[in-house]
Amino acid sequence: MKTTRRDRPADSPIWALRSSNPYLQGVYAPTVHETTAVELEVAGELPRDLYGAYVRNGPNPVFEPENLYHWFDGDGMVHAVQFRDGRADYRSRFVRTRGLADEMTAGRAIWPGVMGHADFDAPRHYLKDTANTDVLYHNGRLLALWYLCGEPYGLDPLTLDSRGIVDFGGARTSTVSAHPKVDERTGELVYFTLDDFAAPFMTYGVVSGNGEKVHEVPIDLPGPRAPHDLTITENYSILHDLPFFHDADVLRHHGHRVTRFHRELPSRFGVLPRLGAADTIRWFEFAPGYVLHMVNAWEEDDWIVMDGCFQPDPSIRRNPSEGVLGSMLGYLRVHAHLHRWRMNLATGETREEQLDDLNVEFCLPDTDRYGVKTRYSYHQYLPEDMYTVEFRALVKYDHEARSRTRYDYEPGWYASEAPFARRVGAVEEDDGYVVTLATEATSLRSECWVLLAREIERGPIARVKLPARVPSGFHAKWIKGERIWER
Ligand SMILES: [Fe+2]
Repeated sequence: MKTTRRDRPADSPIWALRSSNPYLQGVYAPTVHETTAVELEVAGELPRDLYGAYVRNGPNPVFEPENLYHWFDGDGMVHAVQFRDGRADYRSRFVRTRGLADEMTAGRAIWPGVMGHADFDAPRHYLKDTANTDVLYHNGRLLALWYLCGEPYGLDPLTLDSRGIVDFGGARTSTVSAHPKVDERTGELVYFTLDDFAAPFMTYGVVSGNGEKVHEVPIDLPGPRAPHDLTITENYSILHDLPFFHDADVLRHHGHRVTRFHRELPSRFGVLPRLGAADTIRWFEFAPGYVLHMVNAWEEDDWIVMDGCFQPDPSIRRNPSEGVLGSMLGYLRVHAHLHRWRMNLATGETREEQLDDLNVEFCLPDTDRYGVKTRYSYHQYLPEDMYTVEFRALVKYDHEARSRTRYDYEPGWYASEAPFARRVGAVEEDDGYVVTLATEATSLRSECWVLLAREIERGPIARVKLPARVPSGFHAKWIKGERIWER
């Protein structure tokens, strides 16, 4: 193994080591290093038909926060484990956001963070656009994106070096949410963005496969909303108006984004043609609740079928004994199950059903199949009694057989979102691998695990030993090898 930069055992900033905030300790603690390491040691054997990269984004705060740290606040850092010819390399790089640059110049934190008082005089946004949430491939580069809708930051797919803000052919006028969807058949990227205070509270848009914005329309919502995801089918896009949102007046006048479950309101999904005008959207009503992440959606005759992780009661479960941390810890204790919604475009009929009862989130199908029918998805199991967010098992769903298999991580190991990596030459939907990053809570060793998608219950067939600790983080994708090495 050759490593150009290595972590020291104490690889976190001193201010984080001194903190008692659980999201700055152990598997969550930020690292101060960017690492490049090639030809890593592997326990087991890496398949030679695993060709591409596991790429994951996550928070990694550089400067000591002025206020209580929230897990959502940290500067974006992208980690990649790159596989070819039965070998693996690792890279990690900060996303060089404008917010990080401003704070590097100032030598301190500028933005208040989620737990602080919103600073409407801060540059660009009352919170720092960290680009720390999602990462995906589009038009020759990776995009790092922020959950509250920010500027899309382009990264080199091999080196992860930041390539600046992506402007969609000079036509980008809005920010972009986390979780836009790329239709691999057309190359189009479908996105939304939000406004906290003024109509249009949502804007919907499409970027072509060669990076030009080709469509953008306002979406008429009753007020500010806080959707996190959207889905696509071959012909339609499905947007969220969910009854779990903040009060704009409280935010404006008191500086806090207080999110509340309005259980008297329905969940609404808006369906519009991919390039549809604003007035072509049709709204379908369902039981109240919230959805962070959808699995996928597709068309079946007149029906749109959509599977996702539904929270029937997204109320924040504060534990008074947790004091000032209670709000953050409670908000992050998600209770979600696999759910199916159906919308009939001919009759307006709706149907919904719970598909399983296990508490799962961070769900991914084969992302090459976004918009077309998928049978399988890969989720993270969240234990009911979790203190912080803990991914404790990988769960594979068969949506047709209505069955699941799981692999419980070894005690002490905490994993990350686990995308499907299609085997080179594969035809069948689950012919390939599932890849995740994991860190052991006592030793703080990190590894990248490769599992057979058809036999996840066997556990990893190969464990790549990483030379640096990878803090727990948010979203991951599988990037095909030709997009990294055959450009
Ligand atoms: Fe997300």
